[in-house]
Amino acid sequence: PAEDEARIEEIKRLLEANNAVLVAHYYTDDAIQQLAEETGGCVADSLEMARFGARHPADTLVVAGVRFMGETAKILSPEKRVLMPTLEATCSLDVGCPADEFSAFCDQHPDRTVVVYANTSAAVKARADWVVTSSIAVEVIEHLQARGEKILWAPDKHLGGYIQKQTGADMLLWDGACIVHEEFKAKGVEDLKGLYPDAAVLVHPESPSSVVELADVAGSTSQLIKAAKELPNEELIVATDRGIFFKMQQAVPEKTLFEAPTAGNGATCRSCAHCPWMAMNALDNLAGALREGTGEIQVGDELRRAALKPLTRMLEFNA
Ligand code: 13P
Ligand code: SF4
Repeated sequence: PAEDEARIEEIKRLLEANNAVLVAHYYTDDAIQQLAEETGGCVADSLEMARFGARHPADTLVVAGVRFMGETAKILSPEKRVLMPTLEATCSLDVGCPADEFSAFCDQHPDRTVVVYANTSAAVKARADWVVTSSIAVEVIEHLQARGEKILWAPDKHLGGYIQKQTGADMLLWDGACIVHEEFKAKGVEDLKGLYPDAAVLVHPESPSSVVELADVAGSTSQLIKAAKELPNEELIVATDRGIFFKMQQAVPEKTLFEAPTAGNGATCRSCAHCPWMAMNALDNLAGALREGTGEIQVGDELRRAALKPLTRMLEFNA
């Protein structure tokens, strides 16, 4: 629509005028992903977003995604201004792991190395020894296990259970879940496989174990797009937020992509396979943030320094 075109032009002008760069997650709207790409920003998984923001010379990072992504950017680049289209965009994993309760849990298990998923608040990260994203979680836990360490893992129980199965590590799991991925159903994926027996199944490991067990490839959003390209299969069943289809279909225009079925149907399931918080990012509030300087992420100095340690470990581990 013409309004969108005008907004897009405005955002392009504002990015340039503010020496700003747009860092977007694969689950945001197609128009935002496209804009990030066209303007020299990036569209990426959460680890790549963190790396890109930390290395980019811009004065302002505009992070289109959910709050932990903006906070991570600010912790890694305190000298940059970090803006988000909205500060309301949270994540069920972050909400389900309040810092005070988490800290008490850690206190009860002082013999365990604390590893937290990136989908957490700065305060939870500050209590951790390591931060990981889904793209390197298995490798980091393998490394810690080889050193004989026992793990306390938070917050995603499905991802934690998956890592535990892959590595055999001793892991105590926090009881958290992603409301989007938890909706995928093994029965639905099996039925779809019945219709398309040659299809490969791609699954984000935030999904329940019964679904991950059916996967040909389990991995982060970037890893799933890479797998879509590398697998010989012409048909792919994909169990992750449907925002990923924009870049995935561009990567494999000749292949047929199917959304993995969720619990409900269109009538009963409002948020199936699309994160309601990612969906809060729009062209309008993105332009507004740049125009008015709203949605700025602030992280206090002491908290920032504490959260930086486990985040730096993550970035250096994968270097
Ligand atoms: P990725 O690191 O795979 O992009 O995952 C982030 C996320 O929030 C998935 O739900
Ligand atoms: Fe959080 Fe799930 Fe949304 Fe990712 S898709 S941001 S894990 S609620």
